[in-house]
Amino acid sequence: MTEIRVLTDEAQCRAHHGLFRRAMHWSPAEDDKWEIIRQTYEPGRTHAAFEGDEMVGTTQTFGCSMVVPGGAVVPHAAVSRVGVRADYTRRGVLSALMREQLSTLSEPVATLRASEGRIYGRFGYGLAGRVRFLRIDARKAVIPGSPVGRVRMVDPDTSDKLLPELHTAIGLDRPGQISRWPGWWAIHQERKGAAENLVTVVHSGPDGDDGFVSYKVSEDKDFKHTMEIEDFAWANADAWRDLWIYLTRLDLVDEIHVDAALDDPLNWLFEDPRVVYTKDVYDQIWLRLVDVPRMLTARTYGVAEPVVIEVRDELLPANDGCYRVSPDGAERVEGPADITISVELLGAVYLGDTKFSDLAAAKRIEGSRFDEADALFAVPVAPLCSTFF
Ligand SMILES: CC(C)(COP(=O)(O)OP(=O)(O)OC[C@H]1O[C@@H](n2cnc3c(N)ncnc32)[C@H](O)[C@@H]1OP(=O)(O)O)[C@@H](O)C(=O)NCCC(=O)NCCS
Repeated sequence: MTEIRVLTDEAQCRAHHGLFRRAMHWSPAEDDKWEIIRQTYEPGRTHAAFEGDEMVGTTQTFGCSMVVPGGAVVPHAAVSRVGVRADYTRRGVLSALMREQLSTLSEPVATLRASEGRIYGRFGYGLAGRVRFLRIDARKAVIPGSPVGRVRMVDPDTSDKLLPELHTAIGLDRPGQISRWPGWWAIHQERKGAAENLVTVVHSGPDGDDGFVSYKVSEDKDFKHTMEIEDFAWANADAWRDLWIYLTRLDLVDEIHVDAALDDPLNWLFEDPRVVYTKDVYDQIWLRLVDVPRMLTARTYGVAEPVVIEVRDELLPANDGCYRVSPDGAERVEGPADITISVELLGAVYLGDTKFSDLAAAKRIEGSRFDEADALFAVPVAPLCSTFF
């Protein structure tokens, strides 16, 4: 019989971390790394599955906030460190963990990154945001004109102090963006220690610091230099453009790799838009609406005739019911419904990455008036989460 417990003891949190890493085929953290990682174990947020006295499964959340369409910011749980010991998989351990975690979450929405696409739909997580992996031909990347602000290199100690504040000041722009918690920065700083060649530059405009980028450049056996952009945030278009001017004018860089939103306008910066090549598009945000009424009222809607949507949620039946969505907002109503949808697929359309009409074409939802629902849920910018967890 699988028992789910909330961990409080540090030794058990370390065992939790080690179990998760083993499930991912990684080795456990050394003592010095653990000193940093332990800061990410917030009280009350760590679940473990036990068979008798043996820990066999793990999951954890980090508390932060997320932007929803329209710009409101809501409490958000970042779900992470999901793993089941290899000799206990496919016996319902993850199912027990997910049920317990979902029923005890205080945040109205949770997101995660999925190692595989077939794991989380059954727990009500929908694929809500994708990201483009871009490859930029740095040798041909010419941005006309001059920078308008100033870019300065900062040393690691300065960036450790400066970036958390600057990231908060820059704010969260797109739906799906999340705030960063103290443990996130602790881990980020630990990773930076591992990548000694990580460089951070900060941009300042007329009102002070308003953007930063962290990157590293590596050289392969053919002397090709590739830059990986690790972290990038900007408060305005001048900061974004100036930082790209800096990056593309660096010596000894052949290619730049960066993750960007599906609608990122980056190619328009360059004289030759073909220097930006989309190498891949992959799923990023898996979103679970934990409190459907609260989340439907948190976001704004486009202009269209109202639509009544019936939501079905097997794990959290309090969400079951009909919701009338109109340009003025959303409210619970009695039926009849125009569209019937699972909570997983409502999660998929929530940030605007997926359309009702596409789900209908794929026979994943039933009903009518999909065009009106598409117009109501449409967003002007594609979702993105630039904070990895
Ligand atoms: C993914 C993982 C957590 C699943 O744990 P688990 O205890 O085996 O999951 P459960 O037994 O509760 O499975 C529930 C259902 O999901 C299915 N499922 C679970 N993992 C799956 C996977 N990787 N691919 C496809 N289906 C999967 C099961 O077949 C089962 O389906 P059923 O109810 O129709 O029989 C576990 O296999 C694991 O630790 N994998 C390696 C680490 C990893 O990928 N972690 C996730 C990081 S995001």
